[in-house]
Amino acid sequence: MTVPVRKFDAVIVGAGGAGLRAALQLSEAGLKTAVISKVFPTRSHTVAAQGGISASLGNVQEDKWEWHMYDTVKGSDWLGDQDAIEFMCRQAPEVVVELEHFGMPFDRLENGKIYQRPFGGHMANNGKTPVERACAAADRTGHAMLHTLYQRNVRAQTQFFVEWLALDLIRDAEGDVVGVTALEMETGEMVVFHAKAVLFATGGSGRIYAASTNAFINTGDGLGMSVRAGIPLEDMEFWQFHPTGVAGAGVLITEGVRGEGGILLNGNGERFMERYAPNAKDLASRDVVSRAMALEILEGRGCGKDKDHVLLKLDHIGPEKIMSKLPGIREIAIKFAGVDPIKDPIPVVPTCHYQMGGIPTNYKGEVVAPKDGNPEVRVNGFYAAGECACASVHGANRLGTNSLLDLVVFGKAAGNSMIDFIRNERPALKPLPANAAEFSQARLARLENQTGGEEVADVRADMQKCVQLRAGVFRNSENLARGVAEIKAIAERAKRTQIKDKSRVFNTARIEALELDNLIEVAVATLVCAEARKESRGAHAHDDFPDRHDEEWMKHTLYDGQSRQLAYKPVHTKPLSIDYIAPQKRVY
Ligand code: FUM
Repeated sequence: MTVPVRKFDAVIVGAGGAGLRAALQLSEAGLKTAVISKVFPTRSHTVAAQGGISASLGNVQEDKWEWHMYDTVKGSDWLGDQDAIEFMCRQAPEVVVELEHFGMPFDRLENGKIYQRPFGGHMANNGKTPVERACAAADRTGHAMLHTLYQRNVRAQTQFFVEWLALDLIRDAEGDVVGVTALEMETGEMVVFHAKAVLFATGGSGRIYAASTNAFINTGDGLGMSVRAGIPLEDMEFWQFHPTGVAGAGVLITEGVRGEGGILLNGNGERFMERYAPNAKDLASRDVVSRAMALEILEGRGCGKDKDHVLLKLDHIGPEKIMSKLPGIREIAIKFAGVDPIKDPIPVVPTCHYQMGGIPTNYKGEVVAPKDGNPEVRVNGFYAAGECACASVHGANRLGTNSLLDLVVFGKAAGNSMIDFIRNERPALKPLPANAAEFSQARLARLENQTGGEEVADVRADMQKCVQLRAGVFRNSENLARGVAEIKAIAERAKRTQIKDKSRVFNTARIEALELDNLIEVAVATLVCAEARKESRGAHAHDDFPDRHDEEWMKHTLYDGQSRQLAYKPVHTKPLSIDYIAPQKRVY
């Protein structure tokens, strides 16, 4: 069967903040740029980001990019690459002002400057006192950013392929990336996108967990495609649990609530964070707060009849502030928790929120993989940015609001790298291999022909239960070993899922089956990496190895999805221009 081929200079998979920022750079440079997205661009998961984007603008009190860098390195528990972290923190003020000039409707201070609020782990003077660094548009910052970037792209004539699912990466005999295959949901037909450069900006994979703040679309598509194309995944053991997901619903309640003065209370009415983080208290870094909450609940000091959550109290900050700075939170609390936070506290639990690992890149957005004994060789023509990528600026734990920053800094950097590559190294399309579409065709044919297999929903539910139970806030050797065996068995079942509706036209069952292929790769990677890391660092809290072990474990894991084996590579300890920030005990 012949598959239609469409030709572009650049193809971007994913229309969230990173994809749109990169696309804008490319389209404005006059390159023919396609963006492929499963959903309408302004429904991408960036829209759900609430509290802000970090930048040391110093609009409220003095701040410096060096302090932002220190906080990010400390937040990462010294696993973050310091060259990439310096790049991001130095770029932050510029990219935020650029967004402002694009028309992003930030809230304003009295003096007209961009509004900034405190956030977890944001401190002045290398960890001394809290500082207002999160630039916010009420509690809808991601929404404001996404609409701004989409409109700029429309103006720049980026071509959008909306409700298309990317299937597989196309590499040629030399391993270079020359395009992707994708499925148009409306017709069910497959197309080859032939490109000089391909960027993955497919977002996170939080749907491997049963309870998650992630949208249903966050199925790790870029990670699944990378694994199938022989690209390893980095640091997949590190998953962030956001302290304040609505209990029972998982919906995010921004850390901005605590930034505006909200506090966490246990079942005894105690502000327990004073015990765990005497300096930063409720605004300690997320892994610290989530662990404290989980311990309070485990030790019987939870709230409610089952003592299974804690309370986020904000009535004392007053209705005016709640209505102006946190209107979305009030709406979420009323709809999902049945409480009006102007009067009553919100029941919250730590909930899976963000993947720190992903497709390995350098700080230019170029994908790098091991080759001939070198752990970081560029994969020609392939780029990644945003949550699907691991630059690695977040290391073992991300600071709140560094994710929106990551999207625009590395989206823009990847766009610039692609422009250079297209102009200087690949001015013409590299030929497609003869079998460019065969692998994806075989995957689709398997679904068409499969009979007698299991339902996609059943396998997905078992995967989510396994990951939730075995790779949660607290981990231990026995649980992780069981988790590895269980998830491998579930991955075998996923190879035999069947869909009853075999039609092609807008067949969402087929899409869900294809998404499960991606989720499963991420779930296996998560458990294999978590089982291997015999220490506690950032979000990886291991009961049998409660301490951080820098001599042995200050290194990144690299998971090879073909063999399911691990390799390791060193952390980049050399920043670009300043001195190394050496490991210290991490206290808040
Ligand atoms: O709490 C929040 O508003 C989430 C922000 C983030 O994940 O960066």
